Amino acid sequence: MSEPLSAMLDLARRALAHAHAPYSRFRVGACVRAASGRLYAGCNVENASYPVGQCAEATAIGTMVAAGDRQIVEILVLAEGLELCAPCGRCRQQLAEFAHPDALVHLCGPEGVRRTISLGELLPLAFGPDTLGSAS
Ligand code: THU
Repeated sequence: MSEPLSAMLDLARRALAHAHAPYSRFRVGACVRAASGRLYAGCNVENASYPVGQCAEATAIGTMVAAGDRQIVEILVLAEGLELCAPCGRCRQQLAEFAHPDALVHLCGPEGVRRTISLGELLPLAFGPDTLGSAS
């Protein structure tokens, strides 16, 4: 495993340990690597008003934006279940705002990376900033 990937997994593990998931009991950690090289981690933050809950990826993206980075080059998602945990549809759209379709998304379990897939494969024909730019 590459050094950045190992650091991303470590940060996602730590974030997952802080997840606020008392309703689903499904803890998620995520980490994004910015073009600057900086890593930003996040966990899911649920709410007693269920739809208000926030995914781990959204937390990581928000932290990145607040710190001044705008370009995501690599993404890692960590969950504890046996099934592969891929980003939900909303998170795919949020990731596409800041990442190129070639950006790799590492889907992980407690033991490490289970599958790596590109963002473009997860969200083909994405609606994005370019779509708006083409409007006349
Ligand atoms: N969740 C994430 O944090 N990321 C994903 O990619 C999938 C789902 C969270 C949302 C909710 O807190 C819990 O997992 C169960 O859906």
